[in-house]
Amino acid sequence: MNELKKYLEQYPNAKILDIGTGKGDFIGLIDYLYQDYNEIIGIDVIDYLLEMDKESFKDNPKIRFTNEDILSATFPKQSFDIISLSNTFHHFTNIEDTLKHMVSLLKPGGIIIISELISDNSTKQQVSHKLLHHFAAKIDREIGVIHSQTCDKEGILKSVKKYSPIPMIDYWDLMVKDYEINVKLSKLYDIIDNLLVNVKDSKQYNDYKRESEEIKKYLKANGFQLANKLCMILKDI
Ligand SMILES: C[S@@+](CC[C@H](N)C(=O)[O-])C[C@H]1O[C@@H](n2cnc3c(N)ncnc32)[C@H](O)[C@@H]1O
Repeated sequence: MNELKKYLEQYPNAKILDIGTGKGDFIGLIDYLYQDYNEIIGIDVIDYLLEMDKESFKDNPKIRFTNEDILSATFPKQSFDIISLSNTFHHFTNIEDTLKHMVSLLKPGGIIIISELISDNSTKQQVSHKLLHHFAAKIDREIGVIHSQTCDKEGILKSVKKYSPIPMIDYWDLMVKDYEINVKLSKLYDIIDNLLVNVKDSKQYNDYKRESEEIKKYLKANGFQLANKLCMILKDI
């Protein structure tokens, strides 16, 4: 995490945009590492998550949220010092347009931080996260939400380097264990059950149900740990 802190600290009074902010986990990490920012805006297409964000960060007037699609949001060009995209890369189909759009919103000299789950080099406990994630992605796709499986490290590096209009100047394995909170098995079971509710009318419901039982069994036998993440820095030099 020191690497990330080092990059954040290069931007005093930064204006930051966190794309695909979800429950604001990455905003929480930024705020944990560095407080010398001017403003953080979290943007997400899903608004019920944003309600939770507002609650979590309600005492911090420098953090705000907007419920929009990043590709149609009307932020002025070159308005952010730092743009982050955490665990959201695999939610886009058109990576090239998304990265181009992100670069257009970046101030000269600013950085893009892409942090992304990777599917390789997993421990048994991390395989639990991968299984759970791939199950959630499959259910999302069934209900029409864009959500791919996560990719291996080389695949992500190759794809970002290929499609980014600005160079990747650094990357490393993001170790966030001391920041993240332990997740209880019962909470993970609830997540799985809630996912099943989304496909209760599907013809494949019984297959999903069977898969969910297998995943629960694996979680119980092996425990759970968050999957490895890769952090990449893009900057026009
Ligand atoms: C897996 S969550 C990541 C949450 C958080 N950033 C994290 O690091 O855990 C991905 C989020 O991206 C959001 N998302 C997907 N496409 C988006 C878009 N075009 N514009 C804004 N948010 C988007 C989804 O709604 C979802 O909340």
